[in-house]
Amino acid sequence: MAKKGNPLGIDIGGSGIKGAPVDLDTGALLQKRLRIDTPQPATPDAVAQVVDQIVDAFAEVTGDSPIGVTVPAVVIRGTVRSAANIDPSWVNTDAEALIKEHTGRSVTVLNDADAAGLAELHYGAAKGEKGLVILTTLGTGIGTALIYDGRLIPNSELGHLEIDGYDAEDRAASSVKEIEGLSWDEWIERLQRYYETIEMLFSPDLIVVGGGVSRDSDLFLPKLRLRAPIVPAVLRNKAGIIGAARLASDLAGLTR
Ligand code: BGC
Repeated sequence: MAKKGNPLGIDIGGSGIKGAPVDLDTGALLQKRLRIDTPQPATPDAVAQVVDQIVDAFAEVTGDSPIGVTVPAVVIRGTVRSAANIDPSWVNTDAEALIKEHTGRSVTVLNDADAAGLAELHYGAAKGEKGLVILTTLGTGIGTALIYDGRLIPNSELGHLEIDGYDAEDRAASSVKEIEGLSWDEWIERLQRYYETIEMLFSPDLIVVGGGVSRDSDLFLPKLRLRAPIVPAVLRNKAGIIGAARLASDLAGLTR
């Protein structure tokens, strides 16, 4: 049974905004996720209204507990500083203040891949890992999270490494596979180039691969030739929600 005061995680994506209360002992969602289409244009105000709807929908189980919210962008002390895959009007928006204004709740805003990294660190594929873990999410873009000895180094943005003259995510994101109609082998070649560059620059101990396409990880991960183990994320599309809720609670000093 859900306890009052469970933290709420909300994941803001390009097509949907999803939220659910999270059990921090297990990392499980306490209720089915609520998904609402991302309003278009996805301006900060329009999105904050949807976030408020989601907060209201779970008020029974979350009480006035903190909420964690992800955005697909660099976030420095609550303020959004980039907009590769979101409406440009987010840049320089104090997203924490805005969402707090709409919801009246204590709010932590963080990068979507960083949230996924925290979720995998506490409850998933990177649990208990020492050394350097790099989580990458393959989706519309490429998101990354750097975790060293269990501590997140936020806003790594390694999806935008320039490789062979291209922004890496423009070549290797899973959306590019769809748009360009690449075969698995063609896409794997691009992934190989991406991950070997990451490996050359950072020497990670473990690479975790998330994003929707990680469902098909059997079709591509075993074909990558790397020194570090490369494994699929385990929390799938719940990782952002779980990681956001976890960080919000950690920062509020509520984590047991
Ligand atoms: C953004 C990152 C984000 C990633 C995945 C990239 O284009 O720059 O901030 O984490 O997409 O959504």
